[in-house]
Amino acid sequence: MTRLTPPHAERDPDSLSADELAEVVQFHNERYWRDDAPVVPDQVYDRLVEQLRALAPEHPLLNELGEAGAGEDLPASDKVAHNPPMLSLGKCYSEDELLKWAKGYSGTLVASPKIDGAACAIRYGADGKLQVAGTRGDGRRGENITHNVVGVPNVPASLPDDLLAARGPCEVRGEIYMPLSLFAAVAELYANPRNVAAGSVKAKEVGAVASDQLRFFAYDLIGWDVQSEREKAELLRRIGFSPAPTQVCDIAGAEAVYQAMVSERAGWDYETDGVVFKIDDFDEQSRRGFTAHHPRWALAYKFQGDSGESVLESVQWSVSRTGTITPVAIVTPVELSGAMVTRATLHNVSNVDALQLKVGDTLLMTRRGGVIPHVEGTLGGGSEAVAAPTECPECGSATEVRSSVRRVGGEDIETQTLHCAVPERCPAVQRGILQHYTKVLEIDGFGDKIIDMLLARKMVADPADLYGLTVEQLKELPRLGRTSAINLLAKIESMNPGG
Ligand code: IVH
Repeated sequence: MTRLTPPHAERDPDSLSADELAEVVQFHNERYWRDDAPVVPDQVYDRLVEQLRALAPEHPLLNELGEAGAGEDLPASDKVAHNPPMLSLGKCYSEDELLKWAKGYSGTLVASPKIDGAACAIRYGADGKLQVAGTRGDGRRGENITHNVVGVPNVPASLPDDLLAARGPCEVRGEIYMPLSLFAAVAELYANPRNVAAGSVKAKEVGAVASDQLRFFAYDLIGWDVQSEREKAELLRRIGFSPAPTQVCDIAGAEAVYQAMVSERAGWDYETDGVVFKIDDFDEQSRRGFTAHHPRWALAYKFQGDSGESVLESVQWSVSRTGTITPVAIVTPVELSGAMVTRATLHNVSNVDALQLKVGDTLLMTRRGGVIPHVEGTLGGGSEAVAAPTECPECGSATEVRSSVRRVGGEDIETQTLHCAVPERCPAVQRGILQHYTKVLEIDGFGDKIIDMLLARKMVADPADLYGLTVEQLKELPRLGRTSAINLLAKIESMNPGG
C-alpha cells in the first residue's frame, strides 16, 4: 500500500499556484481511486478540488478526476468480468423514505448490517474448487484478487461434494472487511479498516496486512436455485460461508429493527454504515427488478451522525503508567452516533505531525465502529501549531522522543512517541502503577482517592511500599478510621503475591 506525503505538504494550501494545487489533487485522486488508500478524509479532498476549480476553472485535471484510468493499465488476465454486473444499493436516511420504498409491500423483509469493506465476487467451478475472485471494479469488470482471497480464513477453498453434485458451478458475493479487533493493532497507521481491507486485498504482494487478517461476509449466491433471501443465507452457511447476520421483519417492524441495530453496532467487530433491507421473496424481487445502478428490491437505510466537525480547543498530554506521554485532542462537544464527544486520542507525536494540527482547527471527527472517537483530519482554520512539550506535564522532568520502526506491508513505518525521561520519580507513573497493581490484584477498597492521598503524603512510591504500611499511618488519612485501616491492611496482606 502506498503511504506517501502529499506534494507541498509543508505549505499552506491557500498559497499554492493552480499547477501546484493540481499536483496535490492528482496525488489524492490516485491514492483514492488507484490504490484504494486515501490519506485524507473525502471532505478534505473535496475542498481541495473546489479550491482548484475556483482558482483555475479550466484546469485540464478537473476533467480527469474520478475513476477514469484507474486499473486501465491491467493486463486482461488480471481482470474478472461480472455477469450479472455487481450493482450498488439505493440508500435512505429515514423511516419515511423506507416506507416509500416498500410501497404497499407487506411481506417479509430481511435486514442485515451494511458492512463497510470491499465488495468481492468468488467463483467456484463444477469441481467445487475456488476458481477466481475479483473486486467490484466498475461493476462489470474488477481486478483479479484470487491470490489474496484464498488466504482469507472464512472463505472455503472448496464446496462440500454432496451439495455440489446436483447444482454445478456458482458464485458467492460479499464483503471483505478487517475486524475491528485486528485493526486495533494498525489503527495508528491507517485511516480506517475499510481502506486497509480494500488496499490489502488488491495488493500484488503482501499488502498493509496479510489476508489472514481479513474476513468475508457472504450476502449473495448466484447460479444455484433458491427462492428467498432466507433460503440463500441458509445455503451459504451450509456450504461453509459466514452470511451477514440477518433479522427478519415486515415493513411495520423495520424501524424497530433499524433502531435495535443502531444500538447493537457498538458491540460488533466490524464497521457498519447502515442496515440493508431486502425483500425476501424472489418472485417479488423479479417483479421489482433493477435500475442501472441498484436493485429495486433492496435498500440501505444509512446510519446518521457518524461524522461531524468540531474545533480543536487544546491538546492535553497525558502521562501513562509506563511514562509514555500521549496527546489527546480536547474539542468543542460534538454529537456523534448519539453521544457527546469532547476528546479523542491522537495516539502519538508522529500522528500529530502528520495531521499538522493547529489549535483552533476545525476537525473532522468520527467514532470508529460507531464507538471510539477518532480525528480523521483537519479542515484547517487554526493558527497556533501544536508542539510536543519539552517537560513532562506531571513532574516537570525533561521529555524524550523515542522512535520505533515497524514493518507493515513491506514498508518501514517509523513512529515517534514521547516519554517522561525520569518515570521512576514521576507521580503520574507512580499513581498509574499503583492503580494498576491494586486493580489487577483486586485489592478492594484501594480506590484512586486513597492512592492519591498516600502518594501526596509520600507514604508509598511503588507497590512494594503497600506492604510496609501500618495501621497508625493509615488511620491518619482523612475519613479512614482505625477499623477501615485494619481491614485495608488485611486485604493487602492477603493479596501478597509473594505469599
Ligand atoms: S446486498 C446489489 N448486503 O454495500 C448488491 N450489500 O453500497 C446487493 N454491502 O455493493 C448487496 N453489506 O458490497 C448487501 N449486508 C449487505 C451488505 C452489502 C455491505 C455492500 C455491497 C454493495 C454495497 C453498496
